[in-house]
Amino acid sequence: MSENSDKKEDGFVNVNGLNLYYVRFGKGNRYKLLTLHGGPGGTHDYLLPLSDLAGQDFDIVFYDQFGCGKSDDPKNESDYSLEYAVEEVDGVRKALFGDDKVHLFGSSWGGMLALAYTLKHQDHLKSVTTSSGLASVSETVKEMHRLISQLPDKEREAIEKHEADGDYSSPEYQEAAMYFMKKHLLRWDEWPREVADTMEVMEKRGTYLKMNGPSEFTIIGTIKDVDFKDDLHTIKIPALITCGRHDEVTPEIAKSIHDRIGGSQMEVFENSAHMQFWEERDKYLEVLSEFIRKND
Ligand code: ALA
Repeated sequence: MSENSDKKEDGFVNVNGLNLYYVRFGKGNRYKLLTLHGGPGGTHDYLLPLSDLAGQDFDIVFYDQFGCGKSDDPKNESDYSLEYAVEEVDGVRKALFGDDKVHLFGSSWGGMLALAYTLKHQDHLKSVTTSSGLASVSETVKEMHRLISQLPDKEREAIEKHEADGDYSSPEYQEAAMYFMKKHLLRWDEWPREVADTMEVMEKRGTYLKMNGPSEFTIIGTIKDVDFKDDLHTIKIPALITCGRHDEVTPEIAKSIHDRIGGSQMEVFENSAHMQFWEERDKYLEVLSEFIRKND
């Protein structure tokens, strides 16, 4: 994976009484980068292409959020929330980077979490980057349904039927959800092991079902009403907003965020969907690395 696996450390960090699994590459290097995975309910594994940055003087941390991967479940049902996740990010940052200001990166739900963290704690950050991030679930679901309206009849009808009758375990709904993901999540026939690992563990742990819902586009879990887009103008640190041209979290969503954060930079990866750091790995790392170096 990384050329710097000799500089890899992993273990558990205790935050709010929970043991959270983390992996760190390039400890002590110059550019401090904390990364947040999506789902909500995923794991850090699918973000690992970013660990290549350790070879460019980056000190980069990945961790599994509460109820995810190898980390503990939260203590209370009410903790399956954005507010709790923000406090957890702050605990991980403090535990692993101390008083150093860091760069924050989040993918998808992780992007939403990165923006929410920035709204509360931007004094601890040098910059924020979102890859397919969102600031409004309803806006995102609306865009996802625009993409669903463009699917072939079979898949579109299966989704519409089971969103109406609530039978999400139906094989035709599941197959249609997979069809959508192969078009708008990662457009590869075979998914890399790290992505498959994330999907498998996500399914087992159940946090995705609780917080997101039965699929990417049927978002009926605890985050369903989150919307803070009208607060984004208060973000004053450098921000990089990225997405893929074929992304389920569409370029329109990225633009809506970019337009609200003064001075932010937006990059659309033309040959990518939701995982630009897989589909256009070298280019993605180049853009991210340049942005962070410029704003360190
Ligand atoms: N469910 C999507 C993600 O967070 C939006 O990856």
